[in-house]
Amino acid sequence: MIGFLKKKKGIKMGKFYLTTPVYYVNDAPHIGHAYTTVAADTLSRYRRLLGDNVFFLTGTDEHGSKILQAAREKGLSPGQLVDRMVQRFKKLWDKLLISYSDFIRTTQQRHVRVVENVILKLYEKGDIYKGTYSGWYCVPCESFWLESQLLEGRLCPECKREVTRVEEESYFFRLSRYQKPLLDYYSKHPDFVLPPSRMNEVVEFVKRGLKDLSITRLNLEWGIPCPLDKSHSIYVWIDALINYISALGYSQDDVRFSTFWPADVHLVGKDILRFHAIIWPALLMSLGVELPRMVFAHGWWMVKGEKMSKSKKNVIDPEWIVDRFGPDYLRYFLLREVPFGEDGNFSPSLFVKRVNSDLANDLGNLLNRTLSLVVRYCGGKVPSPAKDFPEDGRVREKVKNLASQIKPFMEKLSFSQALSCIWEVIGETNLYLDRCAPWRLAKEGKNERMQTVLYNVLETLRIFSILLFPFIPSGARKIWNQIGMKDEIESQTIKDGVEWGKLPPGIETRKGEPVFPRIKKEDFYETERKS
Ligand code: ME8
Ligand code: MG
Repeated sequence: MIGFLKKKKGIKMGKFYLTTPVYYVNDAPHIGHAYTTVAADTLSRYRRLLGDNVFFLTGTDEHGSKILQAAREKGLSPGQLVDRMVQRFKKLWDKLLISYSDFIRTTQQRHVRVVENVILKLYEKGDIYKGTYSGWYCVPCESFWLESQLLEGRLCPECKREVTRVEEESYFFRLSRYQKPLLDYYSKHPDFVLPPSRMNEVVEFVKRGLKDLSITRLNLEWGIPCPLDKSHSIYVWIDALINYISALGYSQDDVRFSTFWPADVHLVGKDILRFHAIIWPALLMSLGVELPRMVFAHGWWMVKGEKMSKSKKNVIDPEWIVDRFGPDYLRYFLLREVPFGEDGNFSPSLFVKRVNSDLANDLGNLLNRTLSLVVRYCGGKVPSPAKDFPEDGRVREKVKNLASQIKPFMEKLSFSQALSCIWEVIGETNLYLDRCAPWRLAKEGKNERMQTVLYNVLETLRIFSILLFPFIPSGARKIWNQIGMKDEIESQTIKDGVEWGKLPPGIETRKGEPVFPRIKKEDFYETERKS
């Protein structure tokens, strides 16, 4: 297994491990969860295109007070609630074509075992001690707060909801010990947290000083029992973070673990950055495990200026959208509309405008008109290209450079910029088709020239479909099939597939239903009302 990994400057090449958060299953998934997961899927698919051995982990966070409370409200046992909700998450991921490698549930034995091992190791290391916690706890955020951190009216500084008083015996992790090592690590690895503005926030926070962290709750019946003292359960955030190593078999299967660890990217929302950029690396330092390479914190989807969240009941159900419009429109909108890292507003009118203009008009029309011309003038078969004209070379150069142009953006997870590069070339190709006007060439009897132009456009469509496969896998596959390609689109790589001229002349095209039909705002509201 390890043989294929080349060591280069200490960096393992050829593997790529990325994760989403494990989501709470107190309620059904919403657009925010779909966002992180779609972004992770797109990055996974892109890394596979580059030829990497990708391990893409997602899953669910199933313990803690929040789940217990939600189960009580619904009249279910926590076990029943989590089993139901996990099905909702998995179903949505299937519908969105999420190509995860593994789905971890924090209630699984394979996870529980590793959590116990981790706690014992931290204890042996001298980083756990028993004390008394007195302060406040926010159940929706599953977070501890000091009196001095609360907002007026005793509200959680994070979500502005009421907190509960906690005064109990607790085991603590010596987080304070890691202030200096963390600051050293940040300064040596300035790209550990991205975007850069988020790194600065983390550094400022740690500089203000770190307090030891309460890592157990007394008598919490829905949690992993603390192996040091069974009257305590592991604090749900400690339990949850460990998923990133338990899924790889940490302390169980060293070969598997060292094949994929360290994580190349932990993808998270900015709401949970501190857990990932401070507590998680401190735990790993204490365990003596290498730190992840990058934590990327993206922004929030808002509805009418407020963060979309399950407990605020202002969520948009991604399943409605996918059932009505298929997976691509939602995937595309989420990744194209807002620069990754910034906040965005979700509204049906923005959604409709974006997908109509980019997918239905720019890309969909290019495909439809080209295939209609191929049917009318070339008997439906991919024509052979002949002598090159200067305008051909210009389009071809743009298409050939596209893969290397988007690479730096994809490395920084700038999905919207990568897409806008691709759309620039789609625009160029539309212009090329308009200017060369193969329908006129056909009328003038310039068949060779007409065929060359159509070949070139079909070939750009083939290359677009490979580069777009990570973003809109369903539509990209349809384009690939309609232009007549036979082998599987998922077996393509950038190295081989994006070379110019791989579209074989003579194959039969298969014009079908429009791949990206236009939608109307009314379609959107109709769906919403019905559900
Ligand atoms: O925090 N906009 O789970 P969670 C964008 N279980 N992304 C959003 C979002 C929004 N409005 N709302 C949620 C937890 N997300 C813990 C994580 S990890 C070891 C434990 C996304 O169900 C975003 O990725 O509250 C955010 O960080 C995550 O869902 C929080 O999901
Ligand atoms: Mg949350």
